[in-house]
Formats: sequence, C-alpha cells, structure tokens
Amino acid sequence: MGKKPYYITTPIYYPSDKLHIGHSYTTVAADTMARYKRMRGYDVMFLTGTDEHGQKIEKVASANGTTPKAYVDNIVDWVKDLWKTMDISYDKFIRTTDKEHEITVQKIFKELYDKGDIYKDAYEGWYCTPCESFFTERQLEDGKCPDCGRPVDKIKEEAYFFKLSKYQDQLIEYIESHEEFIQPKTRQNEMLNNFLRPGLEDLCVSRTSFSWGIPVEFDKGHVVYVWLDALSNYISALGYLSEDDEKYKKYWPADVHLVGKEIVRFHTIIWPAMLMALNLPLPKQVFGHGWLVIDGGKMSKSKGNVVDPKILVDRYGSDAIRYFLMREIAFGQDGNFTNEVLIQRINSDLANDLGNLVSRTVAMIKKYFDDDFPTEFKSTEYDSEVEKMAVETVQKVENVMEQMFFSDALIEIWNLVRRTNKYIDETRPWVLAKEEDNKAVLANVLYHLAENLRIISILIEPFMPNTPKIMREQLGITDDKIVNWDSSKEWGILPKKIKVNSGNIIFPRIDIKKELEDLEKAQKANVEVKDEPVNEEDFISIDDFSKVELKVGEVIECNKVEGADKLLVSKIKIGEEVRQIVSGIAKSYSPEEMIGKKVVVVTNLKPVKLRGVLSEGMILAASHKKKLVLATVDNDIKSGAIVR
Ligand code: ME8
Ligand code: MG
Repeated sequence: MGKKPYYITTPIYYPSDKLHIGHSYTTVAADTMARYKRMRGYDVMFLTGTDEHGQKIEKVASANGTTPKAYVDNIVDWVKDLWKTMDISYDKFIRTTDKEHEITVQKIFKELYDKGDIYKDAYEGWYCTPCESFFTERQLEDGKCPDCGRPVDKIKEEAYFFKLSKYQDQLIEYIESHEEFIQPKTRQNEMLNNFLRPGLEDLCVSRTSFSWGIPVEFDKGHVVYVWLDALSNYISALGYLSEDDEKYKKYWPADVHLVGKEIVRFHTIIWPAMLMALNLPLPKQVFGHGWLVIDGGKMSKSKGNVVDPKILVDRYGSDAIRYFLMREIAFGQDGNFTNEVLIQRINSDLANDLGNLVSRTVAMIKKYFDDDFPTEFKSTEYDSEVEKMAVETVQKVENVMEQMFFSDALIEIWNLVRRTNKYIDETRPWVLAKEEDNKAVLANVLYHLAENLRIISILIEPFMPNTPKIMREQLGITDDKIVNWDSSKEWGILPKKIKVNSGNIIFPRIDIKKELEDLEKAQKANVEVKDEPVNEEDFISIDDFSKVELKVGEVIECNKVEGADKLLVSKIKIGEEVRQIVSGIAKSYSPEEMIGKKVVVVTNLKPVKLRGVLSEGMILAASHKKKLVLATVDNDIKSGAIVR
C-alpha cells in the first residue's frame, strides 16, 4: 500500500531583506510538523520559498542601486543558508522568478480572463507597498494603511479585476460548513464578521506603473498583482497546468497552509475564491499563527528590533532555538521574545531537565556497570508509574500534534523528563550501588532511565533533529527499529545489555549575566557592520526632518473644550508670542495640571479648527495603549527655545 500524502506549506517570504527570528518561527513550525508526519509514515511534501516580485522589491533594489533579480538572488542565497543551519527539511524551495512558476501564473490569469472572472477596468484607490495591498478610501485609518499603519500611495491606472464579489456567498457557505478550514477559530470569526459578511469588492489584479512582475501574457503593459502571483505558488510548485502535474495530482489539496495572522485574509478569501474560479478543491486548512513580539510590538526592520536567527543558532545551536520557538509561544497566540527568556529556557529545560537526565544516566551506567550490564532485574515500587507515564505521554503528544499545539506537546514531553528525573531521586541509585545485594534493583533502575530516554529521544525528534542522535550514541542505541515512532509506544524493547558511551554534555549551562552582555554585543556589532539594504520608504532624510519646526512653549492658560471630552485648549507662550492649541489629552491631564508646564510644540503646522476651536500647532505627547504623557524638556530653558 502506498503512503498517505501530506502537503504542508509556509508562506513564501519577501526577500526584501534578511529574515528575522519571527520569520523562522513559521518555518520551524512547518518543519516540525513535516518531520512528525514523516515519522508517522506519511509521504510528506513540505514547500517553502520566496515571493520575489512586486513594487516593494523593485523599490528596495533600486534604492540599493541594483536590479531586482540581482538583489533577490543575494538574499535568497542567504535564506537558503539560514534554513540549512536551522535544519529545515523542505522538499521544495520555490522562487516566484522560476520560469515554470511564471508560466503557470500566466496560464491561470488567462484562464480566469477567458472565463470572464477577470475583466479590464480602471483602478483608482490607495496602495500600501510594504503590505502590497489595495485599499479604498474608507478602509484607510487616519489616511494610513489599516494593516501596518504606514503611508499609502494614491494610484490611478488601467487595470484588470478579479470578480471576488461573485464568490462571497460561496465562501461564507464554505467556511461555515467547514469548521476546520480556518484555525484557530477566532480567525474564522474575524474573517466572517470583518470581511465576508460586510461584502467583498472585486480585486485589482494587475499593475501598469512598474514592471517588476509577471507580464500579463495577452496585454504586456500589465504585470500580475503580486498576491495573485504569490498565492499560485502552492499549486505551481506541484506542476499544476504543466506537462508534469503528477505531484499536483498526488498532493493537492494541501493539508495545511501555515501563515501569520496578518495574511490569513489573503489565504482564506482571495486564495479560495481563485481556486473556486479555477474549479479546484480548496486547501483543507489554513492555520493563522501569532507573532513573535518584542516589548509588545511586532518585530520589524523599520522598528529596528529585529533579531537575527543566525547569531542565535551560532551561539546555542539549531535544536535549542527550535525548542525555544516551539515551546515559548502557544501556537495561534503571540509570544514575547527577549534574550533573557531564551537563555533561561535553555538553562532550565535543556541544560537542567533533559541535559542532566542524560548525563546522570550515562555516567551512572558507566560507573556502576560499564562493560557488564546485568541481565537480572528486580523491580521497585516506582517502576510502574514511570513506565505508564512514558506510554501515556506518546498518546498525549499524538493528540496535540494533530491540532498543531506544539507547545503542549513539549510540555507533555518535559513532564515525562521531569518525572524520570524524580525517579532517580526516589530510587537513589548511589545508595543501591553500595550493596552488592542490590545489583538487580540498580540494574532495573538504570534500565528504566535508559528506556525512558529512548522514548523521549523519539518524541523530541520532530522538534530537535540533532539531539536524539547524540542521546542514542551515548546510550549505545544502534538499532533503527527501536527508534522509529511506533517503537515509542512499546515500553521495554531496549535490549537489556546496555553499553553506554561517554560524551559531551548535550546542553551546557549558560552563565546568564555574562552571556547577555556578550550576546547583546554580538547583536549590536551585526547591526553596525552590515551594509544591508534598507527600505527607502521607512526613512526620512534630515531635510524632511528639518521641515518640522519644534519649540519649547509654556502653558499659561488651559480649559476644557465644550462638548469634547478628550480635548483641552491651551494658551501657550512661545518666546514673545502666545498661541492657542487644542490637544486630545483631557483623559490624562486636567486643565489645572497643565498650567506652568514646559511642553514641546510643533509651531509650523497649518492651523486647523477642532470642534470649532482654532488650533495653531500641536503639543507632543508619548502614548502607549490608553496612557498619554507629555513630552517636556529635561531642564529649565526659556520658552521659545528651538528643539531639534
Ligand atoms: O507576507 N512573528 O511575506 P513576509 C511571527 N510574501 N511571524 C512573523 C513575524 C513575527 N514577528 N514576522 C513575519 C508575506 N512573520 C508574503 C506571503 S504567501 C503566498 C505570501 C511571518 O515575508 C508572517 O506572519 O512579509 C508571514 O506568515 C511570514 O512571516 C512571511 O512574511
Ligand atoms: Mg509581512
């Protein structure tokens, strides 16, 4: 009988910049699942790759004085090297600049056009280049991109449209009748309530104002919209519409697309609508995971808080980083990243719990029996509990892995690790070793440790592909038949005559304080020496900045604005002049508190009326969530002093 196919994908990454640890999170999750399914006997197809077209890439390349292709080639090499160092076992790496992919996209576009699901019209609206997304005027928030908050560009051009609206009802019905399609459940409600039920508009699917994209075959001035191009990768990679579509026939529909929460919309609305239009089956599941955040904010280049995964892997090894990513973040939710949390995890779970269990077990077997492990065993009162727990853990891990609850799987495995450590304290082998009479009990205890470690080595293998090999080498396990997945379900199949090999400590303990300093140095040095491409639109020049005139002002009068519970109106002395400024700070400051404060004022803003009250400038304030704090000056200085 042939193996059952299992098809899993990551998003294809924009090679606009090197990837950070947040990107490697998705890929490690997919790799863990792929390895798990292979161990369970599936014929796995694990796809990842790069999303290389579009305006964003074109801009970054030109800012770096090179062509888009030369630019992405460099980064793609870097990305492939990253996946190699992180032991990512993908079966195919697709680039959207691959010729076969480009041809398939052109065919898909043509087919949708011939069918009448793509038509020509004119587009007028807004575009967010970093997100590669179209927005209507009313979708913008404060005139900015509702997804990322960055400025958008007005575009007006002849364009092709995809009849997304036509599939609205079909999509709603599909999602409602396929509970498992969008996971976790919260994302399903989000899609239905925020996007589908309010109504879909047709989607612009071609651009003419730049050229870095797949040309529309029958209308060469147009390039295919980058998301239509990108989403097609999931089937073009399988040879869909090509001469050899054997893989397509075998693996489609995908078992799961793993994606970050901000792109669930593209994968559960646009992508399924495209598939419906092509008369193809939909993927069985789209799983939207959370973000790795730093201090509550998404890691991003423009915030300058990206963490380079290569530095971390270099210092702690791929297994430790993979363990951390899968353990620290409950799949589906956001998780916080700090160097300290990472090192603490490595110390407590890996060095302490697992590392100690391995080294104590190996050292005791070596010391007490070395070449001559007894075959006569005598049991203890603690045995049955640790045996039972080992077998039950396998079952629990299987259950949670099916739902992709990776952190829960690791929690179960580590409960077993800790229980096995406790068994050492209960049975006290060093005491048993003192009496020749206890030899059979001691042998039995050490066998239990080694046997649980054999099972643990199997359970952690999808997460940590290197550590199990080292454990088995030290435990003297050479027979592959007792380390495959199914063998984890049988307690007691480790041959009785154990012969260990001493080896290195698997996870050395890290001196947190010293390491934090060293790691920070390494991370800073990396930022300084790199002559990395930057996204031009993320920065302003010094000339842009000097357009803003900032001065110190002193509040001499302040009142509430009638009928507006957020607004205060202040009279502010700025040098010789007095200005009236309205600010939205009434929830944080009372008018009385404001009097006498030295604040920073933007003095060359165009005057506006707020709730009918004239405002001639703006007071600067810092805000976090609902909290607002005025920006003031650190020391006494005359009002009217210039701030820069
Ligand atoms: O969106 N934590 O590419 P991309 C967790 N090309 N995941 C993160 C993250 C973080 N801090 N930052 C990014 C694209 N990601 C498109 C996809 S698919 C047909 C096209 C994840 O490079 C993010 O959520 O911007 C997304 O799933 C993936 O990295 C790729 O992001
Ligand atoms: Mg993104």
